[in-house]
Amino acid sequence: MGRMTSPHSSAGTPARAVRKAVVPAAGLGTRFLPATKATPKEMLPVVDKPAIQYVVEEAAAAGLDDILMVTGRHKRAIEDHFDSAFELEQALAAKGDAVRLDAVRDPARLAGIHHIRQGEPLGLGHAVLCARRHVGDQPFAVLLGDDLIDPRETLLSRMLDVRDRHGGSVIALMKVAPEQIHLYGCAAVETTGEDDVVRVTGLVEKPSRRDAPSSYAVIGRYVLEPAVFDTLERTPPGRGGEIQLTDALRELATSGTVHGVVFDGLRYDTGDKADYLRTVVRLACDRDDLGPEFVAWLKEFVAALDGGTVGEHSRPAA
Ligand code: G1P
Repeated sequence: MGRMTSPHSSAGTPARAVRKAVVPAAGLGTRFLPATKATPKEMLPVVDKPAIQYVVEEAAAAGLDDILMVTGRHKRAIEDHFDSAFELEQALAAKGDAVRLDAVRDPARLAGIHHIRQGEPLGLGHAVLCARRHVGDQPFAVLLGDDLIDPRETLLSRMLDVRDRHGGSVIALMKVAPEQIHLYGCAAVETTGEDDVVRVTGLVEKPSRRDAPSSYAVIGRYVLEPAVFDTLERTPPGRGGEIQLTDALRELATSGTVHGVVFDGLRYDTGDKADYLRTVVRLACDRDDLGPEFVAWLKEFVAALDGGTVGEHSRPAA
């Protein structure tokens, strides 16, 4: 792949007003211990790429060419992944292994990647605030690493289009079942003339099912106006004692404009163990190189599960 040029600057279309993306990557990854004891959770492989690479590819595909990672501990692995790897590249070049050489070089070619440390784990709102100096007085995107949007979807581009037309900030929303809403920020909304665009009138972080104003969950994609920084500076710690981005957005929704793009495509939560496994299986099935053989095995495996003979079938095929 190696997208050096964004789709928006190569086809004669004017470059977007939004060029920068912020990727908070400072979480402790406690749900994946012990795998995340010495490795950042963002570096866990989804098939053969770390989860965070999908997120950076998504930003680059939407025309964002400047990405700031807000990291905490274990910064090195993320930094190294998006850097060149001289010895490895030399070795692969000497072998004439062009495919693997590209795979090694691709992450560093996706965009200009920068890193900053959050220092104290004071919450998502605080992580975004750490990006203030780098972002400056411009609108910017925020992509959360635990939310993986299928590479065939164009959610972020759609959000950038909505921001170009309406200004203000834009968040991504997805309808979820009532018993799931406590896991997300939840938006009160009004319809607009467009099917997949709503106006956000209120927001609450991880409400109980009873207190949820709707079934619209905030998923981890945001296009924010720089005014969010001043709002975040004033935002007191909220749920969990953390400075919540949702709380700052609630204020922006009342003092300014926040739209929601309603997404009904493929999204995976790689921060959850069972969802992580589903993500790997789904994306592996879709791969031209791995898919056919893996799908054949999977069908056999599921049939064996149904027949109660999983042990017999899984061992030789594994
Ligand atoms: C964060 C946000 C939440 C949002 C979610 C999406 O929560 O605070 O509003 O709905 O991401 O994944 P987290 O899952 O990091 O606790």
